Formats: sequence, C-alpha cells, structure tokens
Amino acid sequence: MSGPYFLECLSGPNGDCFSSPFFLAPFALVALVAAGGYAARRADVASFRRVRRRALRFSTSLLILSLAAVGYFLIFDPQTVSTTDTSPHAQAVWAATVSGLGASVGFVAGALGLSLGGWIAKQVGRRERMNVQRLVIAIDGPAASGKGTLAKKVALHYALPCLDTGLLYRAVARDVIASGGELSDPIAAVAAAQALNAATLDDGRLRGPAAGDAASIVARIPEVRAALLKYQRAFARQPNGAVLDGRDIGTVVCPDADIKIFVTASAEERARRRHLEYQARGEATTYEDVLSDIRRRDARDSSRDISPMEPARDAVHLDTTALDADAAFQATLEAIEARRRGRCGKNV
Ligand code: CDP
Repeated sequence: MSGPYFLECLSGPNGDCFSSPFFLAPFALVALVAAGGYAARRADVASFRRVRRRALRFSTSLLILSLAAVGYFLIFDPQTVSTTDTSPHAQAVWAATVSGLGASVGFVAGALGLSLGGWIAKQVGRRERMNVQRLVIAIDGPAASGKGTLAKKVALHYALPCLDTGLLYRAVARDVIASGGELSDPIAAVAAAQALNAATLDDGRLRGPAAGDAASIVARIPEVRAALLKYQRAFARQPNGAVLDGRDIGTVVCPDADIKIFVTASAEERARRRHLEYQARGEATTYEDVLSDIRRRDARDSSRDISPMEPARDAVHLDTTALDADAAFQATLEAIEARRRGRCGKNV
C-alpha cells in the first residue's frame, strides 16, 4: 500500500524509504508537475496563468464536492463508514466517495505543484534581470495605436535597439504571396516564416494597408508564431536590452520585460491617424476602409487562440486617444522611470 507506507516513511524515515518507489513516487510527481509549470511559465505567461487558474478552480471544486460527500456519510450514514456490515450498494458509494477524495487531493497537489513551478520561474527571471544592467521594454497594443512611434522614441531616448515585430508577420505574408501560396495555408506560411530574411524587413510595401490585413491572417498560425519567437527573443537578449513592439511582447515574447506598456486609443482616432499616414504616402484609401480594416484586425488579433492581443497583467495602460506623439512619449517616460524607481503605476 503506497499511502500508509508513504506516511510511515514520513513519520520515521529509514534507509529503505529512500530507495522505495512508493515513497519516492509522490515527490517525483510533484517535481514533474513543478517542472512543467516552470517550463510553461517561461514559454508563455498568459497561457500558463490560464491553465493554472483552471487547474486550481477544478481541483478545489472537486475537493469541496468530495469533502461534502464524505461529510454526508459521516453524519447520516456512520455505520457504512465504520463497518463493512451494510448493503453492498452503500459500500460501493462510500468506496467511490473515498476514491474521489483521494483523486481531488491528488489534483490539488498537482495544481499547487504547477503553481510552485511558475513561482520558481518568476523568481529566476527576476534574479536574471537584477544581475545585469539591461532594460527590456515591451510595448503592445492594437493596430495604429501609436505603439510603433512610441517604441522608436523610447528606444532613441535609452539608446536601445528597437524591433517592430509586426514587420515580421507582414514580411511572412509578403513572402507567402510572392511564392504563390495561400495566406491561410500553414505549410506555406511556416516555410516562409522559417526562411524569413531579416534584411528584407526594410521594405516600403510592408507598410501598406493590404500587408497589415495579410499579416493578421498568417499571425493566427501557431507554427508561424513559434518560428518567429526565437528571433524576437534573441533580439531582446542584446547586451543592453531592447525595445520591442507588437501584440504579445509583454505576455509571450518577453514575459519578464522590465517595463510593459499597453497602448490603446479609440478605433476612430486610430483610423484617423492611419488614414493621414496613408494619404501622406500617396496610398489611395478612404477613412471608412481604414476604420473597417482596423476593426477587422482588432477582432482577429484578440480572438485568436494562440497569443491573443491582450495586456500583460503587470502592464501600464496608456490611452493615447487625446495625446499627440510627444505627450504619449512623455507619459511613457514617466511610467518607465516610476517603474525603475520601484513605484508601480498601472495607468497613465
Ligand atoms: O502597425 P499596426 O499596429 O497596424 O500593425 P503591425 O504591428 O505591423 O502588425 C500587423 C499584424 O501582425 C497585426 O494585426 C497582428 O495580426 C500581427 N502581429 C502579431 O500577431 N503579433 C505581433 N507581435 C505583432 C504583429
């Protein structure tokens, strides 16, 4: 019997305990789940938090239900609990109740193990950042919210390299089309993402309206995101740090970024700005078309299953609807400096 033997070993450990699989199995299981939690948090904080929340909710609900069932037996049917001299049906229900309790304790332990792994990953990330004088700034937000302009200004101010990650997805879409493939075809899109040449990102065509829409189609493909993740993380690992802007920088690409900013603005204001930009570049498009493109992309980006656009839990929110580029930059600098001094502002 593994349970009693485990408890016996806990109360009086002896030489046999340390080589017994019955004693070691629960520790091995917790270590395994914790390692899973560690890896999951390092890979994608947002998904890790979702899984942990569900695991905790499920295991505590099961625990409460099985405790209630055990309580019912103890109060209303103590005979079944203390003797075997009751009907086979009552015995079977009692056995199922006890098994349910055992399983729910196992699930709770698993959920706690997962949380433990996540907590360790968080501490390790923090220590890694404290050891090196680097600054990684994650700027996320919806289409045309002003995050690109902001990222460039912030990067210039702190003399950091800057990556507009949207360009990667735009370039993948461009290459899929150039090879005659379909944007929604995972094989063509993944091949383009794997073969992407960063030297081709400086391409004026990537800034046009069609490129943004096409980018949001390839961006829904998990393997495309995985192929681009390595490049983005390597960019963020530069000696002094970096500024990256996109949709999932604070949640997936750099979950341990020193500062995360989530930039928003009303859809109408974003469309007005983007329309002016297109007009200045001589693109033939109307305000209404730009607005509907922005709305379509917002919906696609925030509803996809993998790395949806969402603010990181510890992001500073910046609404730029009533701010020009300089005012947004000043507000961001204040937020960054406040974070660096240890004050944790949530909104600016
Ligand atoms: O400049 P704008 O905000 O209009 O778009 P962008 O940042 O160039 O991104 C173009 C498209 O790429 C977005 O609509 C997203 O679908 C996708 N994208 C993404 O999924 N993840 C990122 N980190 C960046 C962009």
